Parts: sequence; structure tokens; C-alpha cells
Amino acid sequence: MIHGLFTLKNLPSRPPRFINLRKTHNAAPGDVQLELTHGLLAESASVAPKFFYDPLGCRLFEAITELQEYYPTRTEAGIFQAWQTQIAAAIASSGIRNTCLIDLGAGNCAKAEALIPQLLPRQYVPVDISCDFLRASAGRVQARFPALDIVGVGMDFSSQMVLPDAVQGHDRVFFYPGSSLGNFSPVQSLAFLQQLTAPSQGAACGLLLGIDLVKDSATLVAAYDDVLGVTAAFNKNLLRHVNARLRSDFDTRQWQHVALFNAAHSRIEMHLQATHDLTVCWPGHMRRFSAGERIHTEHSYKYTLKAMTTLLQQAGFSHVEHWTDANSWFGVFWAVV
Ligand code: AVI
Repeated sequence: MIHGLFTLKNLPSRPPRFINLRKTHNAAPGDVQLELTHGLLAESASVAPKFFYDPLGCRLFEAITELQEYYPTRTEAGIFQAWQTQIAAAIASSGIRNTCLIDLGAGNCAKAEALIPQLLPRQYVPVDISCDFLRASAGRVQARFPALDIVGVGMDFSSQMVLPDAVQGHDRVFFYPGSSLGNFSPVQSLAFLQQLTAPSQGAACGLLLGIDLVKDSATLVAAYDDVLGVTAAFNKNLLRHVNARLRSDFDTRQWQHVALFNAAHSRIEMHLQATHDLTVCWPGHMRRFSAGERIHTEHSYKYTLKAMTTLLQQAGFSHVEHWTDANSWFGVFWAVV
């Protein structure tokens, strides 16, 4: 089939529609300060991983994906490349038509961009918390596919997954690559996946998911503690972002990046560790940290193929299939409600 997407290539490119739900659905600025304060004053201090992604954090994450040690991005791309015919056939045989491709945590939209010529969606909906970055990325995709209906959505879908009215009337393929689901706990992941399978989400619904798999801990830890220190910079940049949001006085030089594999919970943990006794202040509050004390910043859960299949089934997906690489380091799943 030759789709309008390609035949209308010479259309002048218009900017895609963009809906910023962060202003309405998501936290007000005061709520962000309350959330950060709550996490920083807890006995075991923590900052949610969504605070990695200010403009510099987005660029540092892009750099991480190019690192030799960070195998997930290229391994996932290899699976999509090697199995593209089978993946496209699996989606087609699910009876999903006139697809709206909803790209969760779209970032630079590059992964969906590679998929669009195969899936030929009617509508493309990149969703991300980082609005400026997403707006620029969606504009680039629109320039490449001028006839494609693109609706960028700026929102933090980690708390609630409610899409705007402009995203209606199509069968839905949720695209959640890059093992981002692994940044939720298994309990949170189940709740999140159940939102996707809820009947209110549309007529037919499928999920194309990329997830990192359990492997030897040396390989896992190296991916989160690279020799160049890019992941360390990504982790420490979170403190700069917190300073900007909270008017706090974190000094990034006083914090050390820590990445470890917690085998009992099957997860990489990232922390920031105080290099000596120090105090951090922000309006109305202060916290003393002893040398060696940590702020938890991220969990990245690693699954077996079986565990992820079970989780998807528990969430209400009736048909689940998967593809993997030669080492079984990464899994791509197709799940249909
Ligand atoms: C976005 N997410 C899937 C990445 C991961 O691997 O958990 C975030 C990341 N953190 C450090 N490196 C990459």
C-alpha cells in the first residue's frame, strides 16, 4: 500500500499541533516544590527520576545512548531491524487499523521515526514530560512526514495516563521503547499497564514495548557507570535541576555518582552519595547529610522474558509475543488487549 504519508511528500511542512497538559493535568509549581521537599526530608532521601530531564539532562541522556557500555539502545534498535517484517506482520494480524501511534516518553522521536514507514499510522502522538525538546522533535518528524497528523502532548504520564480529546477515534498502538517501563517498580508497572488496557482508552489497543533483560551484573553496572562519566554527569545534573526548581544550594562537586545492581530486586539502583558531612538549604527547609549518605535517584528494573510476559498478561493483555537479540540482552514485546 502506498500511503498518503509518502505521496504527499512535497507538501510544505507546518508545525504539528501541540498540547501542553503539564499546565492543567500535572503538578503546579508549588506541588513540585512540595514533592521535592518531601523526598529530600525523608529518612532515606530521594528525588524522582523525572527530574533528570531538564534540557541539559535530555541531551546527556541522548549521549548515554551512544556510549559503548550502554547496550540497551543499540540492542533494541538491532531487534527492530532484524525482526521488522515479523513485528509489522504481528501488528497487522492483530486487526489493528487506522492506527494512532502513541509514543510514550518520545524524547527525540527517533525510534518512532524509524517505525512510521512500516506501521503507516494515521496519527502520531509523541508524549513527553520535556515540552520544549518534544516540540522541536515533533517538528522534525512533521517535516519528514508532512501529511501525517501529528499531535505532540507535553505531560507527565507517570502519575496518570489521560490523553487529550484530539487523540480519539483510532485504534491505538502504544509504543513504549527504551526500557522506560523499567524505571517503575513492578507494582507501579502493573498499574500503569492496566491504564493502557482500560476500555476507555479506545477501540482496539496494542502495546509495542522494549524492556531490558536480566544479565550478568558487571555488564549491567558498566551500563550505568561508564568510563567517560556521562551517566555520572546525568545523575549529578539532577541536583542542578533541583536547585533551579527548589532554589536549593546543592553543590554538585560534593556528590558522587553510585550505580549498583540489587539482585534481590532485579534492579539497577542509582544514588548520589555525599562526599563529606554537608548541609543543603532551600526556602523554609534544610537537611544535613553525613559523609556517605545517599539520595536515591533511579531504579531500573530488569526482567526475564517470562516475568514480563506474566506482567503483561496480569495487566489484561490477552496475546503476548516477543523478539530478542542473540544474547537475550533485551526484549521487544507485542501485546494486544
Ligand atoms: C530512561 N531509562 C530507561 C534509562 C534506564 O536505562 O533506566 C535511564 C538511564 N539512567 C541511567 N542511564 C540511563
